[in-house]
Amino acid sequence: MTELLTLDGLKAGYGKAVVLHGVSLSVGQGEAVALLGRNGVGKTTTLNSIVGLTRYHGGKVAVGGQNIERLTPERRVEAGVGWVPQERGIFRSLTVEENITAVARPGRWDLAAVYQLFPRLKERRSNYGNQLSGGEQQMLSIARALVLNPKILLLDEPTEGLAPIIVEELLAAIRRIVRDEGLAAIIVEQHAQQILAITDKAVILERGTVAYSGSSAALAQDGATLGKFLGVGAGAATSAPKQQRH
Ligand SMILES: Nc1ncnc2c1ncn2[C@@H]1O[C@H](COP(=O)(O)OP(=O)(O)OP(=O)(O)O)[C@@H](O)[C@H]1O
Ligand SMILES: [Mg+2]
Repeated sequence: MTELLTLDGLKAGYGKAVVLHGVSLSVGQGEAVALLGRNGVGKTTTLNSIVGLTRYHGGKVAVGGQNIERLTPERRVEAGVGWVPQERGIFRSLTVEENITAVARPGRWDLAAVYQLFPRLKERRSNYGNQLSGGEQQMLSIARALVLNPKILLLDEPTEGLAPIIVEELLAAIRRIVRDEGLAAIIVEQHAQQILAITDKAVILERGTVAYSGSSAALAQDGATLGKFLGVGAGAATSAPKQQRH
């Protein structure tokens, strides 16, 4: 499989604090990777470091063979990194449609394609960002990342704090994006079993290092590893649920 994204011995953090102590992982063309681990182990910091929002301390980040670890976040988007922040990052004073078209770049994912993926967004196209439910905000956040037409999509807890029925809807959309469309992705998710079912590989972090790396199918069956690193059995959450957002 052609390697699309490579992290090799990545060290990064915030200010003087080093949070990632040499993280290595790779994502192949068309591959989806689940990034798991307890609260505070460095999952968001890993995605932030790919995007370029942390202090770099060493190691390699490459997309499509191009080293990007010293590029600005803007240049990394140009290199093909698409990103959905944990705090969603939509423009509250723009409409749904303006939020999407403001960032769109030419490619397979255009307004029509994201409206097909999320019919609710089409229904709410004239609503402002601050007039959306938590689930709709998350759909908009994913739509905005898709219309950048990235080589790789980074999703940080896309279902966090949402009602179960919305969680199902979002996971079904993510399945379509990674399975049917074959877009490479790294997905941080608390719903371990559900995300293992729609990803190829899984990486578990523990205190800023990779504690486990293997196939998602194998990990889904490996109760001992799930218990050891995530503190859960089959079907439970990977980390403590946070406050309901909406
Ligand atoms: N902006 C920041 N400045 C300083 N330290 C930070 C910052 N953001 C996170 N950290 C620290 O980095 C470590 C890893 O945090 P990170 O947000 O990457 O964890 P996480 O695995 O995403 O956790 P969660 O499951 O709670 O989202 C934590 O110790 C956290 O306190
Ligand atoms: Mg996080």
